[in-house]
Amino acid sequence: MWRRGVSLSSMLSSSKSRLLNQMQVAYGFNASQVFSTRVLNPAEDGVSGARRKPFVTFVLGGPGSGKGTQCTRIVNTFGFTHLSVGDLLRKEIYSDSENGSMILDTIKEGKIVPSEVTVKLIKKAIEASENNRILVDGFPRSEENRIAYERVGGVEPDIVLFFDCPKEEMVKRVLNRNQGRIDDNIDTVKERLSVFEELNLPVIKYYSEKGILHKIDGTGTEDEIYERVLPIFAALSWSVGALKMSSQISICPICK
Ligand code: C5P
Ligand code: MG
Repeated sequence: MWRRGVSLSSMLSSSKSRLLNQMQVAYGFNASQVFSTRVLNPAEDGVSGARRKPFVTFVLGGPGSGKGTQCTRIVNTFGFTHLSVGDLLRKEIYSDSENGSMILDTIKEGKIVPSEVTVKLIKKAIEASENNRILVDGFPRSEENRIAYERVGGVEPDIVLFFDCPKEEMVKRVLNRNQGRIDDNIDTVKERLSVFEELNLPVIKYYSEKGILHKIDGTGTEDEIYERVLPIFAALSWSVGALKMSSQISICPICK
C-alpha cells in the first residue's frame, strides 16, 4: 500500500502558511523540509514489515477546554488520527457490548469508566489505525487510568497537551455547545469538573515532572488557541519515515 505524505499546499490555508513562515524565522525550521509533498512508499514511511512505534500524543483538559476542537485542527494540518476516548466509550453504549449500560450510567454521572474497559478500547483503536501519528483525546483521566494503560503495555505518550481553561469558561462552553450529549447539563458538568480536579490534575502533574507536558492557554478563540498549538507540532521533524523531535521542542515558548 502506498501512503501519501502530508501536502503543505493542500492542507494549509494562506494564513497558516504565513504563520509557518513567521515560525520559520522565529524557530529556525524550514517548512519545506518539515512537510513532504511526494508520495511515500511503505519502506520509506517505515510501515512495511514490523510496525514502527506510533508517535502518540495524549490530549488533556477539563470538560469544554477545547480538546476535541483543537484535535480536529491538528488532524487537518499534521495528518494525525484522532481517537476521542469519550467517543469510543459512547460508541460502546450503542454496540451490543456487555458494558454498554454501565458506561452509559457512568457517563451520565460524570464519573470515570473502569480502566480495564477504556484501556482495551484504546489499545484496539491504536492497533487498528494504520497511522503512525495518533492523538488520544481524554485519556488518562486518572492515575488509575494511566497505570492500567502502562500495565498492559500501551504505547507511552511522546508528548502530552494540556488545555488550561478557567472553570467558568468551560461551564459556559459546555452548556452552549448543543451537541445533544447526555452529560452536558449543569449537574453533570459540576461533577465532571470536580472529578477533573481531583483525578486528572495529578496525571497532569506527573507528565509535567516527566518533562513531556505542553500546557496551553485554552482561553480565546479557536484560532487564537490553535496558534499556540501549532508551534508544538511544527517543531517536530517529520522527515521521510523517521518521526523524531527536533531540538526546537525543548525551547518551545509555551512548554511549562
Ligand atoms: O472526553 P469526554 O468529555 O468526551 O468524556 C465524556 C465522559 O466519558 C467522561 O465524563 C467520562 O464519564 C467518560 N470517560 C472516562 N474515561 C476516559 C474518558 C472519558 O470514563 N478516559
Ligand atoms: Mg471531547
